[in-house]
This record gives sequence, C-alpha cells and structure tokens, in this order.
Amino acid sequence: MDRIEDAALVVEEGRIAWMGRRADLPVAWADAERVDGGGAWATPGFVDPHTHLVFGGDRSGEFNRRLHGVSYAQIAAEGGGIRETVRATRAATVAELVEAAEGRLEELRSRGVVHLEAKTGYGLDLEAESRQLEAYAALKAKGWNLDVTLLPAHDIPTEFAGDAERYAALVATEWLPELVRRFPGLARYGDVFIEKGVFTVEQGRRIFLAGKALGLTPRVHADELSWTGGAELAAELGGASADHLMFCSDSGMKAMAATGVTPILLPGTTLFLGMRDWAPARKMIEAGCAVALASDFNPGSCPCLDPLLILRLGCLQLRMTFEEAFTAMTLHAARSLGQPDLGHLQVGARAEVLLWDLKDPLELVYWVGGSFLPRRMNVTS
Ligand code: NIG
Ligand code: FE
Repeated sequence: MDRIEDAALVVEEGRIAWMGRRADLPVAWADAERVDGGGAWATPGFVDPHTHLVFGGDRSGEFNRRLHGVSYAQIAAEGGGIRETVRATRAATVAELVEAAEGRLEELRSRGVVHLEAKTGYGLDLEAESRQLEAYAALKAKGWNLDVTLLPAHDIPTEFAGDAERYAALVATEWLPELVRRFPGLARYGDVFIEKGVFTVEQGRRIFLAGKALGLTPRVHADELSWTGGAELAAELGGASADHLMFCSDSGMKAMAATGVTPILLPGTTLFLGMRDWAPARKMIEAGCAVALASDFNPGSCPCLDPLLILRLGCLQLRMTFEEAFTAMTLHAARSLGQPDLGHLQVGARAEVLLWDLKDPLELVYWVGGSFLPRRMNVTS
C-alpha cells in the first residue's frame, strides 16, 4: 500500500488517467473540472468477494435461541438454519427478493462497497434457484455491480434428506446445465458447501467439474466447521477461491499458494457463530497466499453489512497488519473475482474512489466501533 500526500487524481471517462503529487499534475489537465477532496484520504472502494445477498425472511428467532445456548449445528439438525431461509425464500416473490436485496446493497454502498459476489443457494430446487437468479438479473439490470455464483449445493433440501448423493448427482447433471441455459452469461462461478454432514469432497468435485464444463469457475465453501480438504480441492480444480478455511491444513495452504487460489477469510462468521477458531491468516500469508477478506453476509451465520467490522476483525483477530487487511478487502478481493480494474487506484482502474475524512486511514481500525462513512467522488465526466 503506497501513500501519496497532497495528491491529485485525474479521472477520465470513469477511469483513473493519472495519479501523483498535485505539484506534478501534467499541464494537459490544468483546466480540467476540479473536485476538492478537502484533505481526505482517497482509497479504492471495497470489494466483497463472498455474500449470500438474496434471501427471504430473517433468522432473528433462531439467533435468540442461540443466545439461550442452543448451537447452530443443533438448530440445523432440527431442520432450521439454512433450511429455514430456504422456506422463506421459496415463499417470497422475485419482487420481494429484489426489494430486500436492494436495501442491503444501498447500505453496503453507503459504507464503501463498490462491487460484490453474490450466491444463490436458498432455493435448493430448480424453480426457487431460478427465482434467485431472476432477482440477481434484475439487480444487475438496475446497475448494481455483482458477480453471481450458483450454489444449489448449499445444503441438502428436506426432499432429499439422507440422500446427498442423489441430490449432488441431480445438481451436476440436470440443474446446473438448466440454470445456465435459463440465464445465459449471468453466473460466472459455481460453489459447493463441502462440510461434514453436507457434501463430501467427492460429491463437490463432481458438481464443480460439471460447472466448469459450463464455464463456472469454482469458489469453495471449505474447511469452515471442520477440516474436509476443501482448500486442496479448490487447488486441484484450479478454482478462483477457497472460502472460510478456519480449519485449513498446512498442505491446503501450500496448494493454494502454488496454484493461485485466493483464500477468502470470513471473520464476521467466526464472530457471529461464537467460535474461537479464527482462520490462520498469518500462516497463509507466510505460505505465499494472497489472502482476501469478505463479509459472508447471510441471515444465519453473519448478518453483517459493515465492511469496517470485517476490516477490524482482520486486524484484531486474524492478526493481519492494517495494510494486509485493507489490501485483502480491495486488491486481493477484486483479483479473486477476475476484476483487474477494481480494488486499486493505478492508472486504468475504474474510478471507484472513496474519500475518508481522517488524519490516517489506520483510524478506521483504531477508533474501533467508529461509524465512519466514506464520501464518494462525484465527477460529471
Ligand atoms: O457461509 N456455510 C454455509 N453457508 C453460510 C451459512 C448460511 C446460513 O446459515 O444461512 C456460511 O456460513
Ligand atoms: Fe458463505
């Protein structure tokens, strides 16, 4: 992370055309329209590379049970958890899904998130997964910057209880091709929740390979509640990312570093689930991984729309430096989504610039709990 004091930044047609010390501004732009940053720090906008944005209902009732001592796993075993949100999502209209998601996007935007990844996975049948995709298509048509991931293998739906194998086969052979056929070009990624009691590495591999044949690059829910080898699988398949990774193995880290898989860490989830198993970010950085951070925004394990909380947990619990955590929420997050024009302020980047009225960006973490809102740079051309 480089800093330029008393800087100027030139924007042309929505992209950064020049950046440097104000005194060095080339004469070509001497008469350009000027926006006074007022002494603020200009940074790239946040990119959130793992969210479950579109869903119906909420899980505050379940949360209250957790506060009374019932575990997330126990609630899931009783048919609640993800399946509770599946019921609410199946019952919602596309318009209701879009309206709720748009409120969330506005909140994220006001807090500095300029681009995000968003998954299906609360339909778990062909029609409800399709309606989640309809909602994402509508949001994109309204101008929201999203990368969509197909996640019909987020859980085993009640209709397939005890038969993950049959469900995984159906997703791989029928649903993924049908969803891609119905929404050509909408989804860029495929995801599977690899976890004990959900999908095995073998079932995941089958679904990911079917997705790859359709152009869906793997992003893996990996090693979240226990070690399952999800990071190793992401590396084997040439995936874009392995996400969560609280229980990632040393060989999984090495494999990710060797193959350029981005480990995406979700400390908001560790916090909200009341766990102490913070992902081993330092070991991953030392292994040579380009670690990214994300919110995992979802109604069950992390109903958090605040990128600053994630940044703070990155520093305070994952023991990343400020520079590492900020880079993880910008440059590394954008790269994991194949968005080379986002997450940095080099010449050519999209001018998604945040202005922070602070003496030093470190204050975003230091004044922990401070509700800093960035200003956006409004340029007309
Ligand atoms: O990323 N791990 C699976 N999925 C979500 C939880 C979703 C939910 O509880 O609704 C996660 O933590
Ligand atoms: Fe998730």
